[in-house]
Amino acid sequence: MKIVKNFIIYAIILFSLINNCSSKLGIKYLNPKYPVETRVDDLLKRMTLEEKIGQMTQVDTSYLNPKSDITKYKLGSIICGGDSGPADALPDSWIKMINDFQKKALETRLKIPVLFGIDAIHGNAKVKGAVVFPHNIGIGCIKNPELAKKAAEITATEMSAVGMMWDFAPCIAVVQDERWGRTYEGFSENTEIVKQLSATYVTGLQGNDLSKNNTVLACAKHYLGDGGTKDGIDRGDTQCDEATLRKLYLAPYIEAVNAGVESVMVSFSSWNGKKMHENKYMITDVLKGELGFKGLVVTDWAAHKELAGSTKDQIKTIINAGIDMVMVPDEYKEFYVTLLKLVKDEEVPISRIDDAVKRILRIKFMLGLFENPFAREELKNKIGSTEHRKIARQCVAGSTVLLKNKNNILPLKKNNIKIHVAGKNADNLGYQCGGWTLSWQGLNGNITDGTTILDGIKEALADSSSNVSYSLNALGIKNADVCIVVLGETPYAEFKGDSKDLSLTDEDTAIIKQAHKKGIPVIVVLITGRPIIITKELDMIDALLVAWLPGTEGAGVSDIIFGDAKPTGKLSYSWPKNMKQIPINYGNNEYKPLFPFGYGLTY
Ligand code: GLC
Repeated sequence: MKIVKNFIIYAIILFSLINNCSSKLGIKYLNPKYPVETRVDDLLKRMTLEEKIGQMTQVDTSYLNPKSDITKYKLGSIICGGDSGPADALPDSWIKMINDFQKKALETRLKIPVLFGIDAIHGNAKVKGAVVFPHNIGIGCIKNPELAKKAAEITATEMSAVGMMWDFAPCIAVVQDERWGRTYEGFSENTEIVKQLSATYVTGLQGNDLSKNNTVLACAKHYLGDGGTKDGIDRGDTQCDEATLRKLYLAPYIEAVNAGVESVMVSFSSWNGKKMHENKYMITDVLKGELGFKGLVVTDWAAHKELAGSTKDQIKTIINAGIDMVMVPDEYKEFYVTLLKLVKDEEVPISRIDDAVKRILRIKFMLGLFENPFAREELKNKIGSTEHRKIARQCVAGSTVLLKNKNNILPLKKNNIKIHVAGKNADNLGYQCGGWTLSWQGLNGNITDGTTILDGIKEALADSSSNVSYSLNALGIKNADVCIVVLGETPYAEFKGDSKDLSLTDEDTAIIKQAHKKGIPVIVVLITGRPIIITKELDMIDALLVAWLPGTEGAGVSDIIFGDAKPTGKLSYSWPKNMKQIPINYGNNEYKPLFPFGYGLTY
């Protein structure tokens, strides 16, 4: 009797599994054997207007409340902006959070997974223990584009491992004015360098198959002309004719689109006084029409609120301009209701909604999210791996530029040498990572795994008859043979980094003076997101290196100091003599920088 009972139970389970599977395979959009376009069309026609608008809605986790709103509003995307995310930032916490979001999405009628987006702009730097690469200004100085591609590939792996599948990177700004607080997010002032690295970085993140478990959706940003605003004012106005706009700023987008980038983020900035978020000509006619961009266009953070008019007017304007997904990211209920009414009142045509939703669904199918929406935990052990850190250390060495080397003081020998290290940036992981690291504005101190520049120097001299001492202000120098002063900027991001004075701080200048008056060689290493005005201190400096914002592998800088790696970095930005010269860019008529674009010494 018991055998018969068990047989009946197993038969019922087997039947329901087959039934479920066949019904699933019978539904085209759920069956991966169908082409993406077929799946998109099949799913679109099953969707209600509410479900379509839900897909166009992107919400930041710090405003998502309750989590079940993912199901209720059929949300298309969730993000963690600069300061959102699990408190301990550990991989397992990210995995749990993102997998929970996907489970909520799978409770919707059509079970459409969410797209989880993050600013992993120099490695997956929001995750504690992940490798943090040099910011783009350093990547732009590397003469080996393969390294840049590897940095992007590693970033994609360390994202996929925790369930993140959309990287708001690369920033492909062509930066014309170093007073801009986002200079370090740009590869260069030079369009040709930005073009090459745009394609390289997109390919590194997306690979040749988005459905692979170690590739993610890239996002070229910020469209268009974000790096060309007057006086480098963040979210300001780029004033130029269309020919210049295309030549300087659109060219990298052509490369990115041709490299297959599947998302573009619109810029907060304006072109000749018109906000980019309302520029239908540039978004729809040029990007989607002329360039043939088939991916999705996303707004920047609550950018619609910077337009004139009511919330209704703002939403109507950006959607009709060609926006496909709106990074609301806070008042998502209001957005949802407002857009629903705009469509019902025929102020936004359903054809525009369908175009947007098709672009979103196409990407979700290409990413393989319907087959597996969850974190690729099989890659978890690669987060912060020795192999990844080795590549990042090569990126640090490759991005470091040697600007002065009087009497060839560098490279230093490792034996029988007394080195005094000074400066606030010598032993501070937070400072060397800069903004967009565990937090929006960046942090101070020993914030994650990695090596500071001081760690690297100590490591290099570990088994020798040498001695390393440290003091913040070089007051502790006692019979040292040489002093290495590591100084520069402290972290910032976006408009908080806009600056009218790029000179060294008085404290930093005082440390150089203090070291110089000891009568020993002074080696200065700059940790900075942009060129610093250092003209008046230059005579007190025997050797000058700029390591930009190198990230967690500070030992890459000591590799250069001791000659374990030769300096090959070349400036991707012009280095001004003084503030009056700014903006100064290669190709300007009157071009007399302290160090020119493309400059860099070697051993
Ligand atoms: C920010 C930035 C953008 C970033 C987005 C999400 O305001 O402008 O680069 O991707 O918000 O964090």
